[in-house]
Amino acid sequence: MINAVAETFLIRGENKDEMYRSLLPQLSALCEGESDTIANLGNILAGLRQSFGFLWVGIYFVRGGDLVLGPFQGPVACSRIAFGKGVCGTCWKDRKTLVVPDVDQFPGHIACSSASRSEIVLPGTDSRGEVAFVLDVDSERLDNFDEVDEKYLGEVVGMIQKLVTSE
Ligand code: SME
Repeated sequence: MINAVAETFLIRGENKDEMYRSLLPQLSALCEGESDTIANLGNILAGLRQSFGFLWVGIYFVRGGDLVLGPFQGPVACSRIAFGKGVCGTCWKDRKTLVVPDVDQFPGHIACSSASRSEIVLPGTDSRGEVAFVLDVDSERLDNFDEVDEKYLGEVVGMIQKLVTSE
């Protein structure tokens, strides 16, 4: 079937910046006209992983004193991470994006998959400015993430914030 959704989802670009600029409007378009948050989150995460071949892309939601696994794409992962633990819990505690070029060099890194070599974790906030979730992206390549990923994944976090705060 030529017009199947997965076939019309095509990312173009000669570099990462162009690829993200091609991707983001398509992620928005995928969510347009769909009011179900889980459906939209699933497609945003799948679109990201599919475009860049990331190992794992997912969301952990703040639930009391823990981060709890939300929608994700990739290998099975730990369901719960405590405040301040691992890269995700540290991102929540410090309320800032963490780029980890080599996960083996990050004290306390939680290895959900031994294939993960580098990662980026960004915080998302609720309407009061409190951290409500983190977006975690893992790569099988060392040093895979830089300021370009930080910029555009920050825009993805903005999209996710709108979806989860409009519930
Ligand atoms: N590596 C993360 C745990 C989540 S998994 O990578 C999906 C961390 O250290 O918090």
